[in-house]
Amino acid sequence: MQSSEPQHAAIAELLANYKSGHALERDFYKSPEVYAAEQTAIFQKHWIFAGHTSQIPNVGDYFLFEFDVESIIIIHAEDGIKAHMNVCRHRGSHICLKKHGTVKALVCPYHAWTYDLDGSLTGARQMPADFNKSENSLHSVHVALVGGLIFVSMAEEPLSLAPMYESLTDVFDLFGFETMKLAHHQSYSINANWKLAVENYQECYHCAPAHPEFAQIHAMAASPAKFQANKERYAASLKADSTETKTKLKELNAYFDLAEPGTEGFQYGRNPLYEGALTGSVDAQPVAPLLGQLTGYDGGASEFMLGPLSFFLIYDDHMLGYRFTPTGQDTCVGDLYWFVREDAEDGKDFDKTALTWLWDITIKADEEIIVNNQKGVNSHAYKPGPLSKMEYFEQHFLNWYLRALGGE
Ligand code: FES
Ligand SMILES: [Fe+2]
Repeated sequence: MQSSEPQHAAIAELLANYKSGHALERDFYKSPEVYAAEQTAIFQKHWIFAGHTSQIPNVGDYFLFEFDVESIIIIHAEDGIKAHMNVCRHRGSHICLKKHGTVKALVCPYHAWTYDLDGSLTGARQMPADFNKSENSLHSVHVALVGGLIFVSMAEEPLSLAPMYESLTDVFDLFGFETMKLAHHQSYSINANWKLAVENYQECYHCAPAHPEFAQIHAMAASPAKFQANKERYAASLKADSTETKTKLKELNAYFDLAEPGTEGFQYGRNPLYEGALTGSVDAQPVAPLLGQLTGYDGGASEFMLGPLSFFLIYDDHMLGYRFTPTGQDTCVGDLYWFVREDAEDGKDFDKTALTWLWDITIKADEEIIVNNQKGVNSHAYKPGPLSKMEYFEQHFLNWYLRALGGE
């Protein structure tokens, strides 16, 4: 058996050789040692967005959140939302085989061990007299709710979310995080390492060439000077003395990598749309009723990020959730979630095609550029090139990533 020493040495060398201001070396995307290290240092440690409470409104409703080799049962138990590893405590079979459903109990299809919705083992046939059911509950996964958003952490001791809740409670209230529902969810397979997808999401250097539809609405796709001018115009157009303005414009933990040790990283900030644009839609005009306590459109959109894989874009009338999870080292899935206020009716208050238009075409364009990026990175000719001024968020993400793997 191989010792873990050479693995660590290889990663340590990669980390030490990283040149700030540049993309990552090929081995960060290709080496199996790196991928194994990411599983413990990132996927099993950090909070990940799993889905929304509106997907499981009744006791017994569940859905599976699956990535890499993991399968997690997110279930509405008697006393709230719970998450269990979908791994039987007998000989390890998956218990739930359907992606979602409604159950009275969790029954393993292999030898019929039976668990409560809260994960306690209630039935195990023909076991010896001294078998202790209470020692064989399902492995539980930590759950945190941000409004109706369900986050999970597989860590034994999860990272604290207290700074995020303290900083952002008024933002969640203003945009009505408690009173949204999921209007649509779609998964997009991407034949690329998960980091190439996250890095792509972290920079808008590619927006103008790759996303003409997005670039017509969002000022962040413009040059830094033009973006700044739009930020100033937008800030001046808001009522400076209103609490709503202060809440919207607060820029918190402006960079994800600034989180204190032991706490989960988060980011929040609001950016201008172009003058006259109100939301992300084909004509930049409303596609759903205003969210939460909002009283009108202000021509901005907020970015909220929690943990390394989960992102939210809050327009005034709908919110997008994005998550990029690995399905292996060379493949990942981008999951898009569209949220509207919970009393909005499909076909009456919003049209799903109009609601989903912008980000469906945007992620499909992203998929193509990310996959092309992976193809080039696969080549032995690949060398990490220098980042542009517009890739500063990507640089912060890379700084965070290198530290997560044990870098300085
Ligand atoms: S593996 Fe589940 S009951 Fe045997
Ligand atoms: Fe993009």
